[in-house]
Amino acid sequence: MATSSGSSEGDDAATAWLYAGMPDDIWEGEMRAVSLGAVDVLLCNVDGELVAYEDRCPHLANPLSQGVLSEHVLTCAAHEWVFDARTGQGINPEGVCLRRYPVRLDDDRILVGLPEGT
Ligand code: FES
Repeated sequence: MATSSGSSEGDDAATAWLYAGMPDDIWEGEMRAVSLGAVDVLLCNVDGELVAYEDRCPHLANPLSQGVLSEHVLTCAAHEWVFDARTGQGINPEGVCLRRYPVRLDDDRILVGLPEGT
């Protein structure tokens, strides 16, 4: 059973919660791209926890969904930058970070929180 995770971007009133699929759509160890309006989101199920990031590498904007998720390590397909999929922090190189969005489960639906107006 997947669980959801929040982020520092928070559950405030300026967040629009958008439907991003059902938990059965993304099994543990899998990732998938979801287009939510103008934002392309990468959903990852890492050790049973759902996390969401902008589907855009901070290097040269390649979609991270074209990369590889192995356990908690996400590798971009373009130039092999490596990220910790649990946190979005860069492993190689360090000092970079993916843009993270909060995730919650509502009636067994996956909802991703995007800032209003995006
Ligand atoms: S675009 Fe991802 S590593 Fe270059």
